[in-house]
Amino acid sequence: MPIRYTYSEIKKITNGFKDKLGEGGFGSVYKGKLCSGRSAAVKLLGKSKANGQDFINEVAIIGRIHHVNVVQLIGFTVEGLKRALIYEFMPNGSLEKYIFSREGSVPLSNEKMYEISLGVARGIEYLHQGCDMQILHFDIKPHNILLNDKFVPKISDFGLAKLYPTNNNIVPLTAARGTMGYMAPELCYKNIGGVSYKADVYSYRMLLMEMVGRRKNLNTLANHSSQIYFPSWVYDQVSEGKDIEVQEDAMEHEKKTTKKMIIVALWCIQLKPVDRPSMHKVVEMLESDVESLRIPPKPFITPYQMPGDDDKANHVKLSDPSNDCIDSSYQFGDSNNIA
Ligand SMILES: Nc1ncnc2c1ncn2[C@@H]1O[C@H](COP(=O)(O)OP(=O)(O)OP(=O)(O)O)[C@@H](O)[C@H]1O
Ligand SMILES: [Mg+2]
Repeated sequence: MPIRYTYSEIKKITNGFKDKLGEGGFGSVYKGKLCSGRSAAVKLLGKSKANGQDFINEVAIIGRIHHVNVVQLIGFTVEGLKRALIYEFMPNGSLEKYIFSREGSVPLSNEKMYEISLGVARGIEYLHQGCDMQILHFDIKPHNILLNDKFVPKISDFGLAKLYPTNNNIVPLTAARGTMGYMAPELCYKNIGGVSYKADVYSYRMLLMEMVGRRKNLNTLANHSSQIYFPSWVYDQVSEGKDIEVQEDAMEHEKKTTKKMIIVALWCIQLKPVDRPSMHKVVEMLESDVESLRIPPKPFITPYQMPGDDDKANHVKLSDPSNDCIDSSYQFGDSNNIA
């Protein structure tokens, strides 16, 4: 069971919330130092109306989760409406820093990207199948993959949707919590299939594609990148047996691991949840020989091929090829749209 801290202890740990690491949908994250000298990240949650006991019960579940690819929860705070979660500190920050390479960040090798993708897959597999209770993440994205000192990936923010309900009591939290561009289509269209662990599989594929493509680099291969739907283009390349040149000087084995990541991503992007592999299967595919992998059937959603929804989704338009299922102007709030 994680340790319960008082709010004033949290204040002390973070030195008065001095060093802010970032901010997300649930609140702000601050760097802290525990009495033992160990570094920690303190996530101060915004004010919640949720019952304190529910929060403690959920924390107890999350606190029992131990996996090398999942961030460890060390402690928590509940004091009136004040809530906080204390996690182990990840010195190399989150994966998006390395994907959307900013100045000053060290580029990661293709081999390292492959290892990270495998670690993330193992972490999600564990959340889905390995622990007492199935935990669906619903917000798998590079920002929620943290890296330790050895660049071992750790999934963060699992269980938060349940732990920290918002006031929105109409839309399933799953939909409200996802991030545009990563969300599975069944979270937007009711005719695709029920919401399940396969939604995380879909989000995982985005991560894979971004890791392989480092986006900006790969898009430069296309003259009119904005008009090309990335997965569709990749699919055509792979199914025609062409190599995707991510780096000109890539070694032969690097090309193989990159191709594996692409094929797995194409499986994960299948429109219907039933056609997507489980994370267990994903791990298996990533670990096997590239030659043994089958190329998936083509049809997956592209911005120009809308699913023929019967009624509700008609007003949803797609304009940005990087957003697979919905336009960012789309507002959640109609539960009928959700499967
Ligand atoms: N355990 C941690 N160790 C080190 N840095 C962390 C840790 N947890 C979070 N951070 C940093 O704080 C930033 C903000 O995290 P936060 O989870 O609040 O936002 P997010 O991941 O961008 O969005 P979301 O609310 O959807 O999770 C992260 O991008 C990361 O750099
Ligand atoms: Mg996060």
